[in-house]
Amino acid sequence: MNRFRRALPVVGALVAIGGMTTLVSYSVQLYRLFCSATGALGTTQRVAADTARTAARTVTVMFDTNVAPGLPWRFRPLQTQVTVHLGAQTPVFFTATNLSDKPLVGHATFNVTPGRVGIYFKKIQCFCFTEERLAPHQTVQMPVLFFVDPKMATDPDTKDVTAITLSYTFFHSVKPKGATNLARFQDGPADPKLGEALFASACAGCHALDTAKVGPPLRHVFGRLAGSVPGYPYSKALAGSGITWNRSTLEKWLAGPRVFVPGALMPMAVSSPVARRDIVAYLRSLAHSSSAASAQGAARPPG
Ligand code: HEC
Repeated sequence: MNRFRRALPVVGALVAIGGMTTLVSYSVQLYRLFCSATGALGTTQRVAADTARTAARTVTVMFDTNVAPGLPWRFRPLQTQVTVHLGAQTPVFFTATNLSDKPLVGHATFNVTPGRVGIYFKKIQCFCFTEERLAPHQTVQMPVLFFVDPKMATDPDTKDVTAITLSYTFFHSVKPKGATNLARFQDGPADPKLGEALFASACAGCHALDTAKVGPPLRHVFGRLAGSVPGYPYSKALAGSGITWNRSTLEKWLAGPRVFVPGALMPMAVSSPVARRDIVAYLRSLAHSSSAASAQGAARPPG
């Protein structure tokens, strides 16, 4: 019984990111092994601090992508749908390929259905409404970071909505001058804010920043020796690996924990290089933060 209850948050994490299978993948076999291993852990589960800002109510967001005739691009979502809590910042990824031998500029528009939900669908970062250039045969991944305003649940017009479709269409640009490079999302600097949202959706089910959950606490992981948090029951493989966590080792770990450290117990991997880069940038940004400062929810002057 107890063992089952302790495994529940893991199941929750799996369900929560079930729609993101191309971004994150799990090993079922290892997951089972891992559940029986953590049954003996005896840690208490705590709700991550930032779930306080999100509502319990969820909505399913589906993604639809189109390319207008005249633009030889392929344009796809990396996930077909995600179920999100109202207010939770959610990262999703799209990929576009220029199928032609020429550089081409596209322009994306989007719409949200049902239309009355549009005012509650907030995009924090997206590639829409700018002229975007893709080199010949280039493929890029672009993130969209969004949240659904919790006010949707109190508006009589929208409170019954359980599913939203976000639909994008790329058109051949009529004014390609001054276009930005669509590859900027993957070739540009890392984005720790996107990394934070990715962490919340893909990691927080198992990892808290300051306490052990199913996985070890991660606030000070950057620069730390692998497998070194006192009292956390690491696998022998990780504890004895001698790895120090830095940008390169963390990215390799996230790409395939058990490939990088055979015998390690983390049962998931992040398949998108852009997502890995941004998660690592977020972990790095935390390295000098303290739990007290974050508990107050504000940056404090040093000393
Ligand atoms: C399903 C649970 C689960 C998920 C989801 C998960 N982890 Fe882990 N993680 C673990 C476990 C268990 C370990 C300990 C592995 C071992 O001992 O071999 C671990 C270990 C780690 C470590 C090594 C820490 C140390 O102290 O050496 C890092 C770094 C890490 N995870 C990062 C992440 C990131 C980033 C994500 C999200 C992309 C993530 N994990 C998602 C379960 C998980």
